[in-house]
Amino acid sequence: MFDVQGPEAARVAEWSWLLFGVAGLVFVVVLALIGFALLRRRRGGALHDQLPQAQERKWFTFVLIAGGIVPAVVLSTVMGVNVYSERTVAAEAERPAVTVEVIGHQWWWEMFYPGAGFTTANEIHVPVGQRVELKLTSADVIHSFWVPQLSPKYDLIPGQTNTLTFTADHVGIYRGQCAELCGTQHAHMAFLVVVDSAQDYAAWTARQRQPAPNPTANTAAFEGQQLFQGSACVYCHAVRGTTASSRLGPDLTHIASRMALGAGTLVNNRGNLSGWIVNAQAVKPGNKMPPMYLSSGELESLVAYLETLR
Ligand code: CUA
Repeated sequence: MFDVQGPEAARVAEWSWLLFGVAGLVFVVVLALIGFALLRRRRGGALHDQLPQAQERKWFTFVLIAGGIVPAVVLSTVMGVNVYSERTVAAEAERPAVTVEVIGHQWWWEMFYPGAGFTTANEIHVPVGQRVELKLTSADVIHSFWVPQLSPKYDLIPGQTNTLTFTADHVGIYRGQCAELCGTQHAHMAFLVVVDSAQDYAAWTARQRQPAPNPTANTAAFEGQQLFQGSACVYCHAVRGTTASSRLGPDLTHIASRMALGAGTLVNNRGNLSGWIVNAQAVKPGNKMPPMYLSSGELESLVAYLETLR
């Protein structure tokens, strides 16, 4: 969050520094007053001495101002700045170039591009320098969307849609993280935001729109597809262009094009994918993927098929 890569994130950083400065100042003043009080009492008389009435009134006024009025002024000012900066972000956010609907699940992210009509998981691509609008909601508990370098932090709340916008100044890959404790695998609920040039973004979108290619007959991938469609995989996953259409788990239409598995838990390569299929519970206990009992030949075919889903 100290290495901001977009205007919205920059505003959050400014705001955080302001808050840190104000809080730091209050901290120092309070410590000084405590020190003053301690030293003063040591010099003074007995502990329960009654103060003269005039002095008591003076201290009462001091407590009223320092304990009531000053905090009220400081907090109202800080709140005013916050409301103002949120308004500015909202005003700038009128016309987004891209909208993505994000649904939080325990513990992964479903990402739907309504304009282009495809769904992906745990990885979004956005064009550089363009305003991106996210519609956030949740399928189960409260999650929170946060890409420290790019976006403010917004909650995903079941039954409600929150709108978050951000702009990325530079091409690159940015890590996002669920920022609201949502269960045992909260820490393993990450995602990637890939900021592409306009050209790369158009190419990516065009590829994602395509349904999954059908593997050639009599190849390992073809056998893998048969296995996929005839097994428990289809109860939870969708592969567009095939009969698999469940939305309980991540859409796998282009799984091989993604960089990570298990919401940022593993790098997406053949070994990790195989391990995940065989026993995802060993990698990320508590997630909804059951262990799959496959022969080594079956596993090889299945992985060969999934690798064609680019
Ligand atoms: Cu989802 Cu923490």
